[in-house]
This record gives sequence, C-alpha cells and structure tokens, in this order.
Amino acid sequence: FRRVLMFLKAVRHFVLLLLGLLILAPPPGSSHPQCLDFKPPFRPPAPLQLCVMYQDFGCCDQQRDQQLLRSFQRVMDHPDAPGDPACAGYVLELLCQECSPYAAHLFDAEDPSTPVRTVPGLCPDYCSEFYRRCRSALPLLTDDRHISRLMDNQTGVCRHLELGDMDYCYPHLLSNQRLNQNLGRVQADSDGCLQLCLEEVANGLRNPLAMVHANDGTHRFFVAEQVGLVWTFLPDRSRLDKPFLNVTRAVLTSSWEGDERGFLGLTFHPQYRYNGKLYVYYSVEVGLDERIRISEFHVSRHDMNVVDHTSERVILEIDEPASNHNGGQLLFADDGYLYIFTGDGGMAGDPFGMYGNAQNKSALLGKVLRIDVDVGERGVPYRIPPDNPFIQERGARPEVYAYGVRNMWRCSVDRGDPLTKEGKGRLFCGDVGQNKFEEIDIIEKGRNYGWRAREGFSCYDKKLCANSSLDDVLPIYAYSHKVGKSVTGGYVYRGCENPNLNGMYIFGDFMSGRLMSLQEERGTRGWSYREVCMGTGRTCTFPGLINNYQHYIISFAEDESGELYFLSTGVPSATSATGVVYKVVDPSRRAPPGHCHYEPLPVRVKSNVIRFVPQEVLTLPEPHKDLTEPPPTEPYDWLQELLHLLEDPGPDPSVHGAPARPRSSRRGGRRRKGKPGAGGEPGAGGEPEPQNGAVRLAGDQHGRRDRGRVEVYVNGGWGTVCDDLWTTQSAAVVCRQLGFRFALKASKRSEFGAAEHLQILLDDVQCHGTESSLLDCRHAGVGTHNCDHLEDAGVVCGNSIVDV
Ligand SMILES: *[C@@H]1O[C@H](CO)[C@@H](O)[C@H](O)[C@H]1NC(C)=O
Ligand SMILES: *[C@@H]1O[C@H](CO)[C@@H](O)[C@H](O)[C@H]1NC(C)=O
Ligand SMILES: *[C@@H]1O[C@H](CO)[C@@H](O)[C@H](O)[C@H]1NC(C)=O
Ligand SMILES: *[C@@H]1O[C@H](CO)[C@@H](O)[C@H](O)[C@H]1NC(C)=O
Repeated sequence: FRRVLMFLKAVRHFVLLLLGLLILAPPPGSSHPQCLDFKPPFRPPAPLQLCVMYQDFGCCDQQRDQQLLRSFQRVMDHPDAPGDPACAGYVLELLCQECSPYAAHLFDAEDPSTPVRTVPGLCPDYCSEFYRRCRSALPLLTDDRHISRLMDNQTGVCRHLELGDMDYCYPHLLSNQRLNQNLGRVQADSDGCLQLCLEEVANGLRNPLAMVHANDGTHRFFVAEQVGLVWTFLPDRSRLDKPFLNVTRAVLTSSWEGDERGFLGLTFHPQYRYNGKLYVYYSVEVGLDERIRISEFHVSRHDMNVVDHTSERVILEIDEPASNHNGGQLLFADDGYLYIFTGDGGMAGDPFGMYGNAQNKSALLGKVLRIDVDVGERGVPYRIPPDNPFIQERGARPEVYAYGVRNMWRCSVDRGDPLTKEGKGRLFCGDVGQNKFEEIDIIEKGRNYGWRAREGFSCYDKKLCANSSLDDVLPIYAYSHKVGKSVTGGYVYRGCENPNLNGMYIFGDFMSGRLMSLQEERGTRGWSYREVCMGTGRTCTFPGLINNYQHYIISFAEDESGELYFLSTGVPSATSATGVVYKVVDPSRRAPPGHCHYEPLPVRVKSNVIRFVPQEVLTLPEPHKDLTEPPPTEPYDWLQELLHLLEDPGPDPSVHGAPARPRSSRRGGRRRKGKPGAGGEPGAGGEPEPQNGAVRLAGDQHGRRDRGRVEVYVNGGWGTVCDDLWTTQSAAVVCRQLGFRFALKASKRSEFGAAEHLQILLDDVQCHGTESSLLDCRHAGVGTHNCDHLEDAGVVCGNSIVDV
C-alpha cells in the first residue's frame, strides 16, 4: 500500500503542476462547472484523503471521498488487480473524476434525462495508455456490459469512453485554460460583468414593493403589494389564499404607472415571536390632505397567518405636500429602534420652505427618523431614544436621526460577516436622485446626506452647496442617469448558499433594470463597482435556474436565513399582475452539501394553500436561426394575429384616443403628462418607399407581429436602434406607430437577435412617449452610437395591458 501512497503523491504533484500552469492565460468564455447532483461545485469543508487534487474546489466532501477511498482499496486489494504499479494512479484518477468541478461533463450527466456514465470520458491518448497498463482493472471499476463485451478491443473500449465534447475529456480538461481560469470564483463576461443566475420564487404579484420575514423561525416570507395586501408564503413557496394583511380600503394609490403612493413598507418587531407586533407604512387621504401613516398591528390570536385588523395603532402621520417622494422604508436596526425613511415631500428640487424640507430639521420629511415603539399600550405612541442626535437643538424635531435625504428607496441592515461579524449593523440605503445622479449611502447618526445642496457627488443647489457649514456625507457610490434613473437599494449578501457573494452589496435600478454590486476594498475602505449580468450561454443551465427577469426592479429582500432576493415587474402598475420574486444564485460555487440546512418551525395553516408554479424560463443562445424561415404554425399565434387585425386601430390615433401612456419613474419625480394628439406615421412596411422614421419589427422566432427587434428607416435605408437604456416610453412610440395601443415591454440586449447585416442608426433615444416617431425624440446623431448590435432594442406591443 505504501507504493500506492507514493504514487498518489506523484499524481498530486502532477495535477497541481498542471493547475498551476492554468492560472496564467485569459480568454473569457462561459464555462459551466457542475457536479453529478446537477449543482455547482463547492469548497470541501474538511480535508480529503484520496482525491486531494479536488481539495480546494470540486464536488466531493469528506464523506464522499472516504467512500471513494474504500472503492479504491477494494479495487487494489482484488486478486484480479493488475500488477503494474502505475495502474494505481489510473484507478485513482478515474475514481476521483467524480470530484472534478466538471464531473457532470466528464460523466455526460448535464442532461438529467440521459443515463450517467460509470467511467469518466477519457481522451484517446490517455485511454490507450490506460488500456495498455491497466485494462484488467476495468471490470473492477464498472459493470457496464458494453465495456465488458468490448474488453479485448482497445479501439472499441476507447471509442466507447470518448466524450462528445472533447474539451471536457480527461485529462485534457485540466489543461483547458478557458475552463480552469477563475474556476471557483464568480464568473465575469468579457466586459467584467458578474454572471449570476436566478430562481423564480413567486409570481403573479401586483407591484410587489416589499418582501420581509418575521424572524420567528418559521421561514415564512411575506410579500406586500402596493394596493395594500400582504401575502403569506410558506417555506415551500406555496402561498396562502387568505391575505396576511388587507388594508386596501385605507390605502391611497391608483393603477397609474407613475404612482408612488400606496402601501410602501412593513417590518416585524425584532421580538415578533413573543409580542406579535408588526409595523406598516402607507399613504392615506385624510380629508383633503394626503399623508403617510405609520401604524402598528398585532397578529391574530386565532390564526398565525393573519393580522388582527382591529389592532391598528397609529404611531405617526406626516402630511405629504405632493404625491411623489413618499419614502416608504421601515426597519429595526440592531439597536432595537424603529427607523423610518421619509421622502422630501415631492415635486422636484425639494421646493418647500426656505431651503427645502431635507435640510430643515424642523420638518419630518426628507429624513431618517428613529423612534422607540416599545412603550406601554396607553399614552404616547412612541418615545424618543435618549441618544437621538438633535434632541438638544432648538427647533429640531427630536425624531430626526439623519437628514438631507431625497427619497430613500430601500434600505437594509448588514448582518455582518458570518464568521467575523465584520460590517454588522451598517445601514445601507439607495437615495433616488433628481436629474443627474443616483446614490448609495451608509446611514450614520446625525449626519447630513446633502440633498438639496448636493445630488450624488455634485452640487445641485449651488448656494447651499457653497455653505461650508454644511458638512455633508458623500455617498459610497453614485451613478449617472446614463446607467439608470431610479435607484433601488439592496442588501449586503450574508447568506450561506453563495459563499462567493459574501460582503457584496447588490442593488439595482428601477428604470434601467440594471443589477449592480459594490464590494468594499479591504485596504482603502473604498467601494469597487461591478455590474451584475445574467449568466449567458450555458452558465445558468442548472435545473430550476433562469437567466432573465422582469424589467422594473422594485425592491430587494432577504429571507430568514439570509439568502438574497429581488422583486421586479414587467408593467409597473398597481393593477398589473406581472410582478415576480427572484432568488439570486451564484452558479460558480455553492456551499458544501448540508452546510446551509435549517429546520423551519411548523406553521399551522387555516386557509387554502396555493401551490407555486414557476412561469419564467431559461433563455439559451439561439443556434443560428434563419429569420427568413417561415414561422411555425401554432394555433395560438394565428388567433392572436386575427385578434390584432380585428383590434387594429389603424393609423388614425383619434379613433382610439388614448396614446400609449408614457411611463416614468415611480419614485423619481420625473413624471410627464402624456399629451394626446401627435398622430402616428402610416404603418411600416408599406409597399412604396417608406418615410423617414418608419419602423418595422423583426426577429421574433414565432413570427408574431406584436413583437420584435425595432428597425427604423432613415435616409433611404433600414437600420437598428441599439440603446442600452431603451425605455418603455421609447417603445411606446414604436408600438403606436405600428398601430398598437401599448408597449408591454421595452426589450433590450438583442432579445430578438442582433441584426448584424444592418447599420446601427439610433442610440441614446429619449422619448416622452407621445412623439410620432423615434426621430422626434431626443437621440444621438443618426448613425452616431456607442453601442453594438448586442444591444439592439426591441418591443412587445399590445392593445390591452393583460393581467397575466
Ligand atoms: C473494435 O471496435 C471497433 C470500434 O467499435 C470496431 O470498428 C472493430 O471492428 C472492433 N474490432 C474487433 C476485432 O472486434
Ligand atoms: C380586501 O378587503 C376589501 C374590503 O376592505 C375586500 O373588498 C377585498 O376583497 C379584500 N381582498 C382580499 C384579497 O381579501
Ligand atoms: C422648516 O419646516 C417647518 C415645518 O414644516 C416649517 O414650519 C418652517 O417654516 C421650515 N423652515 C424653513 C426655514 O423653511
Ligand atoms: C449656511 O448654514 C448655516 C448653518 O446651517 C445657516 O445658518 C446659513 O443660513 C446658511 N447659509 C445659506 C446661504 O444658506
């Protein structure tokens, strides 16, 4: 056996050497590490004894390694074992490929519906050497009858052991730079964008604004819709039929896509498990005034999944001078106090009073407030924590904890590093900007976050900004409106299942639909930015994962065990059931098996349970599709076309009156009223010479007429619109030109294919939605662009906003 051990050392040396060589070269590409259980590989938590080459990263934990060691000993101790000492090395290598991070490929197991091999795929040269020295070990390694029948035929055996994809055969796999570079780290595409995947968790929601858990051990999660409904979800993702909370009657909102009012936030008391209290934040109308109201509720004594609707205790009401910028975040920080994040009161530029609300400490708007809600049931609704920063300042409201806030939309408390607790308790917020910048802030006691003197790092109100006594805190990160127009604050990832994401602050933008991340740099304490993309190619081809999401990112969430989610919708209206909850999954590395296990406390359910049915699907790259190919004839499509023909309002917009409604930020205060009128161009594709600004749609693989890549006609030629900030306002112009009433989706990143054969004609298009053609919108000069065909824009049009 010593002989064997010596050999193992040599093998290990060889493998480490090979791996060492791999770290050098770059070319990017999407590799797809995957284990035999169809999940990503992991770092084994305890040392391995046999398969040491996969000690740092692979698909075996200590237990599996011990089983393989026993198999190895069984083979080597067998009377039929080959005498050649080199054979031990081969047996070990073959057995250990189960621990390779590419095990699924080596064993041809990427497709769960095909049988898995018993011997890993071997490269021909390696196989013939193995056959020559070690063939008598084969029957001990596999009971594959095909192999035993071929035993005497080297060509036959080795052909049988070959792999369809030669990149993955052993041992060439080890020297494939593309596959081994950055193995185990989060993958980035060629632009440095981190590639993550998603799991759909809930759907059919109407503007889901918040998802929270009760921290009571049940691992339920609660999702709030803007209209004032909160739904209970069980850990298996089924939803209870009866809402947890229904305050739709009191909540002030509308189905208008720009409406920032409504049920905006909720949070459970840190001691909810014992006191059953929760807090909500919503818009109400009192007489002629619009207000925000913060109330306390109790859970029902008879049903743990329903709030006692008679238990409402109003904690605080604040007048809202305008209907936008209503804030909406509520949370308990580690100090046990309730934090309330209000908006600046609305309109644009914080116009109220001498220097706006946000810089006025006598106003509760434009602030982070901190109060103590743990008071007796009678008397005052809340107390002021004794160390609130402005208690001593004359005229200042004692509730104020921090000021200079415009409209913080989504804040979170960092749970801290799972081991060291570093970062614990920090409060992160996204503060929606005015005209230029969106910012991410860390909230600290007594600090001034700058608005309306500053917007991001720049001065907004020059006079206030010049006042040196201002002493404001700069954001940890700000981005311009080229990147997005309405920030949605996220969370620092501290969950268990995606170890590579630990410490990464993941957030998004409501308008542009971008996901983004910040990571603190250890030395400088600065924050480095990376965009987050959806995994392309095969990156997300794991069972249950998807790589696309609804465009409008409304909120982020953490579940009870710290995993990260976000909520987005396709049509940001309080009545459109296109909202989906997604869980963020890193396909490059998972936690070791069993590591993230928890046992939810049982939940007594008294209402009907609605099982979760996922609807979203993975988008795989299309194998070169010929667009001239006739569309497949699906009955559904025919029906749709017929309906469109019947509904087609024709080129005269006055017939159907309403032009597609312009969309604008729900929270950014950038609303524009759509002006009716401004007729559309005659439809595209007319036989005679098209007019400048005419549009046509191309590239839908089913040939549907209501969707496709936008192609525009300018100065005698057709070209594409490639615009990474393509919005529904712009899409609305195109849809209306084509005779549809609405734009259901502004599709981006060449969802309908890249028209490489056409020139790119338009970029940076900024429409209000009422223009008669894209040429009437603001845009970069015709043919002037800083994008490529991979950003070709598309649309999905419709004549009604369908409730899915
Ligand atoms: C060995 O296997 C190869 C490939 O399967 C086959 O073409 C060949 O005829 C076999 N030779 C013998 C002697 O069976
Ligand atoms: C919520 O309450 C209103 C009345 O206040 C009722 O009309 C509505 O049906 C309720 N919604 C649900 C989903 O129970
Ligand atoms: C500050 O806000 C308070 C309360 O809204 C208001 O009465 C006061 O006039 C404001 N002060 C200035 C200087 O605008
Ligand atoms: C500058 O700030 C000080 C202190 O807040 C204030 O008293 C003063 O009015 C400010 N000046 C201007 C021009 O706003």
